[in-house]
Amino acid sequence: MAFTRHILASLFAISGAMAHMQLQWPPALHSKFNSATPEEYIDYSMTSPLVTDGTFPCKGFINNPTSLMAPTVTWDAGSTINVTLTGTATHNGGSCQFALSYDNGTTWSTIYSYVGGCMIDTLNYDMQLPSESPSGTAIFAWMWENHSGNREMYMNCAVVDIANGGSGLDSTDYPAPFVANAGVNDCVTIEGIDVVYPNLGKNVQYGGSYASTKPATPAGFTGSNCVPPGQTSSSNSTSSNSSTTSFSAGVAASTSTSASTPSGSAGVGNNAAAVTPSSSTSATASATGTTCKRRKRSAEARSLKHDGMRRSPHSHDRLVRKSTTGRVAAMKAEHIAR
Ligand SMILES: *[C@@H]1O[C@H](CO)[C@@H](O)[C@H](O)[C@H]1NC(C)=O
Ligand SMILES: *[C@@H]1O[C@H](CO)[C@@H](O)[C@H](O)[C@H]1NC(C)=O
Ligand SMILES: *[C@@H]1O[C@H](CO)[C@@H](O)[C@H](O)[C@H]1NC(C)=O
Ligand SMILES: *[C@@H]1O[C@H](CO)[C@@H](O)[C@H](O)[C@H]1NC(C)=O
Ligand SMILES: *[C@@H]1O[C@H](CO)[C@@H](O)[C@H](O)[C@H]1NC(C)=O
Repeated sequence: MAFTRHILASLFAISGAMAHMQLQWPPALHSKFNSATPEEYIDYSMTSPLVTDGTFPCKGFINNPTSLMAPTVTWDAGSTINVTLTGTATHNGGSCQFALSYDNGTTWSTIYSYVGGCMIDTLNYDMQLPSESPSGTAIFAWMWENHSGNREMYMNCAVVDIANGGSGLDSTDYPAPFVANAGVNDCVTIEGIDVVYPNLGKNVQYGGSYASTKPATPAGFTGSNCVPPGQTSSSNSTSSNSSTTSFSAGVAASTSTSASTPSGSAGVGNNAAAVTPSSSTSATASATGTTCKRRKRSAEARSLKHDGMRRSPHSHDRLVRKSTTGRVAAMKAEHIAR
C-alpha cells in the first residue's frame, strides 16, 4: 500500500510538473516574456496554479511592490487582439476565459469564453476586444481550469492600455468570470469534465468534445456564485444536473478516485474526452522525455530571495515561495486524499 502510494505520488509529481502553460502574449506581470521584468523578479513558477493561499487574482501580482505596472501593449477597442499561450504537455485541455479589469483586479469583465478543449485545440486565441471597452489602463487576464484538475485554477495577468475606447463593459454581455479552486468562494471543479461556464458572455467558442454539442447547461463544478469575491454572477451559477441523472454520481466518482475514472465524465454525458489510464500513462511517458526545469527554477527563485530581500522586504520571491509551498501542500493533500 505504501509502495502504491509512493508510485502514485511520483506519478502525480510528474504530471504536476507537466502543467507548463503560461501567457506569452501579451507579456504578463513577472513573466520571463515581459522584457520589463528585472531578472530577480521573474517568476519561474508562472506556470503553476493559483493555490488556496490568497494568490487570486493574478498570483498576487497586482500592485505588488515588485510588480512593474506599466502597460506592455496598447490595444484599440474593437480590434482583434492575439493572445498566445505557451508551454508543454497540454494533454487534457479544459476551459478558459479571458477578462479585463479596470480597477486593479477587484472586478472583472469576461470578454471571451473558450469552453472545452482550451490549451489543446490551439495556443493562439484571437479575440475581439469589445468596442465598448473604455479607454485607459486595464489588467488583462487568462484563466484556465484544466480538465484533469479539481484543485487548480491558472491565471496570468498583463497590464494593457486600451485606446479609442467605448462606454463600458456591461455585465450581461461581459459578465464576471468563473472562479473556482481558488479559495475565494465555495466553487470546486469536477475532475475529468471541461467546465461549462454559467456566465459565458457574448463571445463564446466551444471546443474539444463540446465543439459540436455546445452544451446549454452549466457543468463541471459544484458551488454557487462562482465569481470573484464581491462580484455577482449574472445567472444562477449553480451547476445544473438537468442533462443527466448521474451528475452526483460523477461528483462522487471524481472525488473518491482518480481523473481517469470513466464514470466521472459519463456523469455529464457529453464529454467524450475522458482521460483513460492508457492516455495518462503515455502522457507521463512522453513528459519524462521533455525538459522540466520547474523544480530547479523554483530552487533558483528561492536562492534569489536573498538578493530580493535587500531590495524589498516584501519581495515577489516571497510570493513565489509561498505559492510553491502551497503547491506542495496541495500535492500532499492530493496524495492523502488518494
Ligand atoms: C500579436 O499582436 C501584436 C500587437 O499587439 C503584434 O505585434 C504581433 O505581431 C501579433 N502576433 C501575431 C502572431 O499575430
Ligand atoms: C490601480 O493601481 C495603480 C497603481 O499601480 C493606480 O495608479 C491606479 O489609480 C489604480 N486604479 C484604480 C482604478 O484604482
Ligand atoms: C491539471 O491538474 C492536475 C491536478 O489537479 C495536474 O496534476 C495536471 O498536471 C494538470 N494538467 C495540466 C495540463 O495542467
Ligand atoms: C435563477 O433561478 C430562479 C429559480 O429557479 C429563477 O426564477 C430565476 O429566473 C433564475 N435567474 C436567472 C438569471 O437565471
Ligand atoms: C438535481 O437532480 C435532483 C434529483 O433529480 C433534483 O432534486 C435537484 O434539484 C437537481 N439539482 C439541480 C441543480 O438541478
